[in-house]
Amino acid sequence: MKVADIKKVGVLGGGLMGSGITQNIIVSGYKAVCRDLTEDILKNTRGIIVNSRFGLKVGMERGKLTKEQMEQALANLTLTTRVEDLKDCDIIIESIGGSDAMHLEDKAPKMKAFAELDKIVKKEAIFSTNTSMLNITDLSQSVERKDRFLGMHWFRPANILKAVELTFTQYTSEETLKVMEGFCEKLGKVSVRVKDIPGDTGFIGNRIYTVIMKEARLMLEQGVASPKDIDTVLKLGYGFALGPFEMGAETRDPRQRSGQG
Ligand SMILES: NC(=O)c1ccc[n+]([C@@H]2O[C@H](COP(=O)([O-])OP(=O)(O)OC[C@H]3O[C@@H](n4cnc5c(N)ncnc54)[C@H](O)[C@@H]3O)[C@@H](O)[C@H]2O)c1
Repeated sequence: MKVADIKKVGVLGGGLMGSGITQNIIVSGYKAVCRDLTEDILKNTRGIIVNSRFGLKVGMERGKLTKEQMEQALANLTLTTRVEDLKDCDIIIESIGGSDAMHLEDKAPKMKAFAELDKIVKKEAIFSTNTSMLNITDLSQSVERKDRFLGMHWFRPANILKAVELTFTQYTSEETLKVMEGFCEKLGKVSVRVKDIPGDTGFIGNRIYTVIMKEARLMLEQGVASPKDIDTVLKLGYGFALGPFEMGAETRDPRQRSGQG
């Protein structure tokens, strides 16, 4: 497959991340089919895409896109509960949660979903996962198309933040990586390649973020400095856009998370 062959993208999971990812895709001129489990959840997905703080309406009001562009983007959107509707997608982006909000990163449901999709979706399609920390090689064991399987880790809000980590396993082909790099460019993203290593530790962003947060919290416990002062030193001393405590408040979901997500 070539980048120019990409027409339709399937997003599995229309939650916090899946809705932002879907929005980015439809605004970039691709058809997106977003699948979640119930019509009620999908109603919420549409609400996030259209009406949220980073949604299409606010974007239009701020002059980031015209009314026609918004209408075109929405014409590119399909929301469905039927997994079969993903069958002719060129790329699948899995962004499902776990069994409940306390276990956002569950290997078993992701493996089950990929195994099901592997039978349904056309053979040449590329499969990717937006997991923040699960080992990509482990997840790739659920499918036969291991050469067309990789991590595609987005940051939140997915339609705003530009970084994407493309995590490759020993099986991921160079062609797959090149297509995904080209696709990221079309979405206005800046991708980096990350080698998958054993363990569920995350990739570049979460690994570094976890260490910084651990040290920042320790300093707080030891009474070394206030959160504001720790943030100030990292911002004005090292040029961080946000200090660790601001970053935590800005990005962390109220649900249980071990890192930035
Ligand atoms: N929240 C973040 O900041 C963040 C950032 C990067 C990556 N991630 C990762 O993205 C993934 C999703 O996170 P989220 O915050 O969007 O979770 P979320 O709970 O907001 O959304 C997950 C959605 O997946 C749906 N779902 C579950 N099983 C499904 C299935 N078989 N088919 C279709 N949909 C299904 C749920 O109904 C839910 O709507 C997780 O792996 C998470 O770690 C999260």
